[in-house]
Amino acid sequence: MCGIIAHVGERRAISPLVTGLEKLEYRGYDSAGIAVKNGSGLDVWKCSGQVSDLKETIDGVESSATLGIGHTRWSTHGPPTDENAHPHTNRTNQVAAVHNGIIENYAALKDTLEEKGYEFTSDTDTEVIPNLVSYYLDRGNEPLAAFQHAVDTLEGSYAIAVVIDGNDSIYAARQGSPLVLGVDEDSYFLASDVPAFLDHTKNVVYLEDGDTVEVRADGVDITDEDDVTVRREVETVDWNPDETGKGQFDHFMLKEIHTQPTSLQKTLEGRLDPASGEIELDIETDLSEVDSVQLVGCGTSYHAALFGASLLNRCDVPARAIRASEYDLTTGSLTDNTLFIAVTQSGETADTLSALRQVNEEGVETLAVTNVVQSTAAREADEPVYIRAGPEIGVAATKTFSSQAAVLTLLSQHLSDIVDSGVPADNLDRLVSDMADLPDAVERVLQTSDAKRLAREYLDMNAYFFIGRGLGCSVAKEGALKFKEITYEHAEGFASGELKHGPLALVTDRTPVFAVCTDGSDKTVTNAKEAKTRGAPIVAICPSDHQIMDAADEHLYVPDRHPVCTNLLANVQLQLLSYYCATELDREIDKPRNLAKSVTVE
Ligand code: F6R
Repeated sequence: MCGIIAHVGERRAISPLVTGLEKLEYRGYDSAGIAVKNGSGLDVWKCSGQVSDLKETIDGVESSATLGIGHTRWSTHGPPTDENAHPHTNRTNQVAAVHNGIIENYAALKDTLEEKGYEFTSDTDTEVIPNLVSYYLDRGNEPLAAFQHAVDTLEGSYAIAVVIDGNDSIYAARQGSPLVLGVDEDSYFLASDVPAFLDHTKNVVYLEDGDTVEVRADGVDITDEDDVTVRREVETVDWNPDETGKGQFDHFMLKEIHTQPTSLQKTLEGRLDPASGEIELDIETDLSEVDSVQLVGCGTSYHAALFGASLLNRCDVPARAIRASEYDLTTGSLTDNTLFIAVTQSGETADTLSALRQVNEEGVETLAVTNVVQSTAAREADEPVYIRAGPEIGVAATKTFSSQAAVLTLLSQHLSDIVDSGVPADNLDRLVSDMADLPDAVERVLQTSDAKRLAREYLDMNAYFFIGRGLGCSVAKEGALKFKEITYEHAEGFASGELKHGPLALVTDRTPVFAVCTDGSDKTVTNAKEAKTRGAPIVAICPSDHQIMDAADEHLYVPDRHPVCTNLLANVQLQLLSYYCATELDREIDKPRNLAKSVTVE
């Protein structure tokens, strides 16, 4: 939530700042702004709205400035107005700051600074930062010392970048919010995420919590939390700049849905061997004593956690999926031998990190199933298990769900083998060969899907229900979340059998029921028929010879594979359905209202 970027170097700053903000818009898109240092002071442009609105604001501006900072906002303190947009400056426009995170002690700091004559014009917590730096400058400190004193005063989580009039450096700090340094031949970047500068460089330094950084055109100085000057390794990311653009697609979401054959290929690479029928997951943590598993996540990641828990239970490994925001150690049935798995594509969701931190205190083994290398979850868990899905820019998670579920599938089989649950893995030979073929199967579903036509048929309805059992239940819940998130229509996902225990009261001929029929059982068929009897149109997501065919009004076909794969393919159909309904309704697909991709507040 909120993206920051900074640039200093040979090239002019405005263009890379603005394109960087476009790449960070998934983190927030209710206001945007930049500040650059020109020959005679700081220029600041900012406005409510999206980066496209900022572009209109600066249209025609000629600036040779090479040093600047930028921000795209998801509001926490104060509504999305021009005044609350970042960068924030002190009254004399000497210091400009951008910030991602929350300054918890801002109210007290603001009171103190106001008493000393410093003026505030916004509702944000961020505005204390330029005023604090100004305060320390006013007391004769050099810029770096003034910045460090200001940072030492802050409580909360932050990634901050500051520019100071008359000074050729960018000052930055990281505490609990992501901040990466991009190292180009003739420039440096700071950003909340690598895609912001991937067009320019793949060389990245992952900053650590407690780091403060001074970045000049000719070099970087990093000081760690103990005030010791440190050198941090420059790593080369293997993401391709093409992965952060829309390519031939109208929206990132559609691109990311269509990228799944490739992203899944990368997820699975080297992790299963169809020739031997074996799963080869490279986990170093000793899992031999594990007696139970907790999988914790939010939103789509929680649905992936449900998928994983369901699989583990099938192998007789006791497992629970728990919503991170509800996580409570006292009710969590944690034992010394519980394995805790944080499921989080971004690795920075505050609710999930909070749960992870609670269990880290207890000393149990923790894994983070995540997409982002060196993300906070990846660092704070005992071991990261990367899903390798590549950058996901659309706010609605698609390819990361598939990759999370694929990794959790491998993990569940790996674990059942290690802890020797006594229950043979679920048709392992078929699982391994069908998983190996999953990327191709997804491609075939993408090529043949009827979701676009169906989306048009069911546009003008009162509500949309999604039902499924077992693995299909997590897919139904995920289908409903995706649907409501990008269409703004009311959608709910239920365990099929639950429909008759209450929700059936809502069913009419204007509430289509999407039935995920991906297991051999006839129970979902019965439940779908109960809805049909009450007039609901039934759309079955099922293999072509499934017994629900007679009862269903429409079908979205998936090949009959190992249940894991059939369900992941059903999910692809539901992703397409949501996407095409949302396009028919002319929704803002990649930036649904009120949302941001990574939610870094609890
Ligand atoms: C929905 C969506 C969210 C995220 C949730 C957790 O499409 O993307 O529900 O899944 O905010 O995010 P991560 O996985 O980054 O922890």
